[in-house]
Amino acid sequence: MPDYNKLSKEKLRAELKRVDEAYDRFKQMGLKLDMSRGKPGTDQLSVSNGLLDAITSRDWDDDNNHSLRYLNYGLLTGIDECKEIFADLLQVPQKNIIVCGNSSLNMMFDYITQCMLTGSDGTPWSHQGEIKFICPSPGYDRHFAICEYYGIQMIPVDMTDTGPDMDAVEAIIRDPQVKGMFCVPKYSNPTGVTYSHETVDRIAAMEPAAKDFRIIWDNAYIVHDLTSKGDRLDNIFDALHRYGHDDMVIEFTSTSKISFPGAGVAALAASDRNIEIIKSRMKYQTIGYDKLNQYRHVKFYKNVEGLKNFMRLHRNILQPKFKIVLYEFEEELRDCNIAQWTHPRGGYFISLDVMRGTAKRVCQLCKEAGVTLTPAGATYPYGYDPADQNLRIAPSYPPVDELLSATKLLCLCVRKAALEKLLEE
Ligand SMILES: Cc1ncc(COP(=O)(O)O)c(C=O)c1O
Repeated sequence: MPDYNKLSKEKLRAELKRVDEAYDRFKQMGLKLDMSRGKPGTDQLSVSNGLLDAITSRDWDDDNNHSLRYLNYGLLTGIDECKEIFADLLQVPQKNIIVCGNSSLNMMFDYITQCMLTGSDGTPWSHQGEIKFICPSPGYDRHFAICEYYGIQMIPVDMTDTGPDMDAVEAIIRDPQVKGMFCVPKYSNPTGVTYSHETVDRIAAMEPAAKDFRIIWDNAYIVHDLTSKGDRLDNIFDALHRYGHDDMVIEFTSTSKISFPGAGVAALAASDRNIEIIKSRMKYQTIGYDKLNQYRHVKFYKNVEGLKNFMRLHRNILQPKFKIVLYEFEEELRDCNIAQWTHPRGGYFISLDVMRGTAKRVCQLCKEAGVTLTPAGATYPYGYDPADQNLRIAPSYPPVDELLSATKLLCLCVRKAALEKLLEE
């Protein structure tokens, strides 16, 4: 395939004609495929079916030690056995863990709501005029949506291969109106980047002008390796402790992409002080979360090693799907020199940068031929990608054969949009 940037107008027109014909053939296939959200495929859900049988009525007789307590009100911060698994996973003491319902996003929303209404540890954020958040971009659209909901001004910061551009972050936090930052430190959504040792250390060392500054450390992909070795991420709380900044971070995680996205367990880790503040709100919010589900997870995984071993089953399903997409990108896009993409070692996404100014057009073309992508712009605050070039590709959901068709179509649309653009210029 030729380098599109080097073709004459005449050759570009001839190439566009060929691509158009292939595109029309796809359109006639009447595809109906979804590559938009990072949802586990049905094959991944079935590896967790045993979880549904992990507890039975026999576990709940009166002689039972763990007892009927789990069926009753109470145990606000979760059952000990489940806290222990998350404590081992996040490598913090059990007293610094709170286990809740199924969604960590829900917990992040609640935490930011608390900061807005009663403060992170002091004056409510909503009483402090226009406040701002640092949003490494491309990033997770639902983090941005929380900021939009509360009218928190978002400041995009570029993601690099080692995490957010820390020179930019360190400059921005001199503004006392900047109250926090979102981080997905491992296999970041969508770039797949794991923050380096230096990045974690610089984050922990930060001295923001706002004394009530908080980092949402969203460790959603903590054990979601696509390679046998996996990336290593430094423990943020150990790093914070070195600088006496223990209160600056609240860490979140969940089993949404370990067990079931709609019926997993979510948890947070925080300093003693933050745990107290969060509990002081939670006690008004609920009398206790679903402890039966927490216990079900404990019985199924047994301990953190069990959970980590279980992740191999996901890896075996996901690895080939990522390979298919990356192989097609290589075959269909590399030589044309019109796109770049990431090679993630974990997580759920491939970040695809198409030719500047064509991402929206690629989405539209895919949609018209029956493949739904995450909308262009979604990976940036306010849905605005200034270069109109980033697309978040989620290979997990479609079955392999459908994924292959969807990726072939996607590549064709990337080429068609680039050719149209080059002919316009
Ligand atoms: C970075 C990140 N955080 C959080 C979530 C959602 O987590 P949960 O299902 O626990 O709410 C996702 C889901 O895609 C995600 O990518």
